[in-house]
Amino acid sequence: MDLIGIICAMNKEANFLKEKMTDVNIESHASMDYYSGKLSGKNVVVVRSGTGKVNAAVAAEILAGIFKVDAIINTGIAGSLNKDINIGDVVLSTDAIEHDIDQTTFGFKKGINPDQPESIYTADPELRKIAKEACEKACPYIGVFEGRVLSGDQFISDPEIKDEMVELFGGLCVEMEGAAIAHTAWLNQIPYLVIRAISDKADDSADMDYPTFQKMAVENSVKIVTEMMGMM
Ligand code: ADE
Repeated sequence: MDLIGIICAMNKEANFLKEKMTDVNIESHASMDYYSGKLSGKNVVVVRSGTGKVNAAVAAEILAGIFKVDAIINTGIAGSLNKDINIGDVVLSTDAIEHDIDQTTFGFKKGINPDQPESIYTADPELRKIAKEACEKACPYIGVFEGRVLSGDQFISDPEIKDEMVELFGGLCVEMEGAAIAHTAWLNQIPYLVIRAISDKADDSADMDYPTFQKMAVENSVKIVTEMMGMM
């Protein structure tokens, strides 16, 4: 994996990473700025996609199709879906699914896209291994969990919706981009990993917790990705 694409949804995360980069060259595609250069000595292209599945998929496709990256990492924050996973902890994806795909009218389970052989996208084992080691080195004080990431174009802050999601999909965290990036990586047959630091519990405290803990969560995810690049 010579060249790694890194997608962040928000400016804050992307700016932290850009500050740490050297030999930077900037190119614009589809109204997004792509920062090519080195992060911890590794060749990377960093982009701030904006939130949501469409922005994330467009950024991922440009990384794959134009920059020809060898792998894509999506870093950012998420709401926890598990009582053992607390604010500040990190989730590494084992797989990812778009929880808002709904063709149940035609007899398909939620999250299943009937036009394709797969709708659950498996994360790359090698990237998972490196990320886990990077977490231990960069953030030894936080909990690291491996499991399913759920993504959709909704900020989840309703305990009933949260419980329903967990029952249907069994995920560890919910956010708004990871599975769209995983989907695009799958279409392009390149490895991917989602790394998410928890900013809230996706329940009725989420609207308060998210702004309070966002910065700390962003800092954790950025530290991990920076460490990871130094190991690759
Ligand atoms: N990103 C961070 N917290 C989230 C939540 N509760 N729902 C969706 N995306 C999120």
